[in-house]
Amino acid sequence: MKDHDQGYSLLRMFQEHPGQFLSGEEISRRLSISRTAVWKQINKLRSHGYEFEALPRLGYRMVDEPDVLDEQLLGAGMKSRSFGKQIKLLDRTVSTQEDARELAEAGAPEGTLVISEEQTGGRGRMGRKFHSPRGKGIWMSLILRPKQPLHLTQQLTLLTGVAVCRAIGKSAGVQTQIKWPNDILYEGKKVCGILLESTAEDGRIRYCVAGIGISVNLKETDFPEELRSVATSVRMAGGNVVNRTELIQTIMQEMEVLYELYNEQGFEPIASAWEALSGTVGREVRVQSGQGDFTGTATGLNKDGALMVRSDAGEMVPVYSGEILF
Ligand code: BTN
Repeated sequence: MKDHDQGYSLLRMFQEHPGQFLSGEEISRRLSISRTAVWKQINKLRSHGYEFEALPRLGYRMVDEPDVLDEQLLGAGMKSRSFGKQIKLLDRTVSTQEDARELAEAGAPEGTLVISEEQTGGRGRMGRKFHSPRGKGIWMSLILRPKQPLHLTQQLTLLTGVAVCRAIGKSAGVQTQIKWPNDILYEGKKVCGILLESTAEDGRIRYCVAGIGISVNLKETDFPEELRSVATSVRMAGGNVVNRTELIQTIMQEMEVLYELYNEQGFEPIASAWEALSGTVGREVRVQSGQGDFTGTATGLNKDGALMVRSDAGEMVPVYSGEILF
């Protein structure tokens, strides 16, 4: 049997015996290959993201299979009308923000989606790095071509947060909260970050790229140590492996519904939805912004999408950018 066929047959054996140990001897007999060849094939599968538990006397048990995204499967199950209908799926890239930007410059239509299995230079707000390991998350950028003026793009960040929060609830049954402006948290730990970048000309938006990074199926050990106290994944929160394909499709559907609502009725219904999912409104916060640092209570959003904070001195302050600490 050829090397490739050995690997394939071995994989089939484990898939046919979910959760069961198969001894090296049994595998070797059934595939008519040596015990050394079995061991080599197991290691090969490991290098492709399959995980095995190995116990003396019992043998091997497959505990995790890589979840690989497929462009056709993704497209076929899209529940949205135009968002995510055009997809560019990459195996590895520096940042999907740059790939989406290139496509937008070349005229790609609104709703075009770039997804990568891995990002080597994932970016967050304020120049921070964004941890985007292979096959474990959703690292994607959606092209938008809004008609609103440039100073209102913050509203789209908030809209994206609502869409992702709802989709995680629907697809994974995990109830998350939004921390102003763009973090999605589960029990205070970050599961998703959103980065909305706009390109404008003469004060008008040419296009926006809505970057969404969700830690979907990461285990604690998949996070670098310095992130473990502040980050979690949807899988860790809900206890189950999450189907990334379905989650992406649900996000596209939720995004499209909210975006249409926004174009028809403006920001008000989006702001109400955001406030209902917010873990920020009503809380004592410390604001770090260009306007300086101060403490107060977050009361809600203003019509632009700025966070309104009643300072301890009793003044209502709109916060347009910066960091909120609890
Ligand atoms: C943040 O937490 O500050 C925002 C993180 C945004 C991450 C996403 S992942 C897809 C897209 N590509 C990037 O480089 N960043 C965004």
